[in-house]
Amino acid sequence: MTDNSEQIDIWNGDIGQRWTEEQALLDAMLAPLGLAGQDRAGIAPGERVLDIGCGCGDTSLTIADRVGPDGQVTGIDISDPMLARAQARAQGRNNISFRKADATTHDFEAGSADLIFSRFGVMFFDDPVAAFSNMRRALTPQGRLCNVVWRPVRENPWVLKSLMVAAEHIQMPEPAGPEDPGPFSFGDAARVERILSTAGFTEIGLEPHDAKITIGKGMGLEDAVGFLLGIGPLRLMLAEEDAATQTRVRDAVTEAVKPDFGEQGLQMDAATWIVTARNS
Ligand SMILES: C[S@@+](CC[C@H](N)C(=O)[O-])C[C@H]1O[C@@H](n2cnc3c(N)ncnc32)[C@H](O)[C@@H]1O
Repeated sequence: MTDNSEQIDIWNGDIGQRWTEEQALLDAMLAPLGLAGQDRAGIAPGERVLDIGCGCGDTSLTIADRVGPDGQVTGIDISDPMLARAQARAQGRNNISFRKADATTHDFEAGSADLIFSRFGVMFFDDPVAAFSNMRRALTPQGRLCNVVWRPVRENPWVLKSLMVAAEHIQMPEPAGPEDPGPFSFGDAARVERILSTAGFTEIGLEPHDAKITIGKGMGLEDAVGFLLGIGPLRLMLAEEDAATQTRVRDAVTEAVKPDFGEQGLQMDAATWIVTARNS
């Protein structure tokens, strides 16, 4: 029996609140990666799109622009605070709706969607095969999937650099298991292919997409590092440490990322997969 209750708690608790409060900065950081996925998906006017794990709705809004007045976007998420933000941002737009639902178990209307899109919203399922099988039912026979997911941490300097620095100062937790849900759980291409093919998808492809992302847009170096440490995996680890250790880590990370700071602010390398597939 699949159980996403831990993730439901996370995204309705501190992390969901944080994503809502930092929505503008997170969107500035992630928008180019999501737009690359939308370009790849070839979204056409009139299409019906599911935006899975839509969060605060940024991608739902840009997809709505692409499908136009004859199309429809449905954002699906489990987080109350993030959905409330998404609703507020989409007010007055007739071609967007949001639904609080778990993508693993939601009773999607069969054959009702042309595209299943997601920007970083599909890596948190306890049973990903069950989730993708369930979502596939929503697609038309010719329907397609286009999801943007992170490649492994080792290929993402925007996370790796601060983790490497922190490891010199604090005890790092055991790394997540290969089947554990989490932001980097779709990094292994073979795993993603296995999940999607077992869920019944065909024509599965993973294209690497690399880009510089802007961390803490408009901020000076120290504030941008504060933002980085507040959104990444170090947030919870640092919360366990005393104030002196927190300061030491923060100073050391600031020094390490200084070369990445320039006129455009803190810009670091990020690595994603654009995952595409078709309904069988
Ligand atoms: C990393 S955030 C990405 C949010 C948004 N797509 C963005 O790019 O800003 C992951 C999102 O997936 C949602 N999520 C996690 N598990 C889910 C599930 N089982 N069903 C639907 N949404 C889920 C979370 O609530 C969260 O909004």
